[in-house]
Amino acid sequence: MESGALIPLSIFYIPSFGTINPIWTMKFPMDILPASFLDLGALNKLERACFDKDAWPFLDLLAVLTYSDVIRLKAVDDGQMIGFVAGDPHPSQGFSWIATIGVLPEYQRKGIGRQLLRACEAQLKTPRVRLSVRASNAGAIRLYEQEGYHRADVWQAYYNDGEAALIMEKEREI
Ligand SMILES: CC(C)(COP(=O)(O)OP(=O)(O)OC[C@H]1O[C@@H](n2cnc3c(N)ncnc32)[C@H](O)[C@@H]1OP(=O)(O)O)[C@@H](O)C(=O)NCCC(=O)NCCS
Repeated sequence: MESGALIPLSIFYIPSFGTINPIWTMKFPMDILPASFLDLGALNKLERACFDKDAWPFLDLLAVLTYSDVIRLKAVDDGQMIGFVAGDPHPSQGFSWIATIGVLPEYQRKGIGRQLLRACEAQLKTPRVRLSVRASNAGAIRLYEQEGYHRADVWQAYYNDGEAALIMEKEREI
């Protein structure tokens, strides 16, 4: 079993079962559901397919699926995880981070990333939402700009290969 090694986690991890929210987009029908540590194997595959050299190590994936307060949502088609987003709220500082967002390559440009982003934002109750993105990732930057994010900062040499990260931010009324 993919997640067999994680069984001991159930001793101290109490999963929160959120409401199942079916979301039918104009472009592609899918469900957006809460993710849990049982999705670790699928998330690991998705991460490697989406991010290549930027893929998070296994322990980071486990953390994002288990840390309290983190919003984690998966897009599901026919029982398969086809997209994932995580949001990390810092309410005392007034902002949240979109920690990661990815859609399997064969499912991209069908509106799934936009729906995941919106669903995650809806659960983050802070007035500002931030994210980082490779300066060369024009497709993702276009999506974020369409969704109301603006360029707030540049972190030079943020990525392992020396590329800069754009820090993008969105303000909204809560
Ligand atoms: C970025 C990502 C999550 C977007 O998900 P997606 O489901 O493909 O995005 P959507 O279909 O919702 O796209 C919405 C809009 O964003 C823009 N966009 C998204 N990907 C684009 C691309 N590759 N090129 C140009 N525009 C793009 C378009 O304006 C698109 O609208 P359109 O298809 O009607 O023209 C997805 O491409 C992905 O997983 N990429 C690899 C991982 C990654 O870069 N994650 C972001 C790290 S910050």
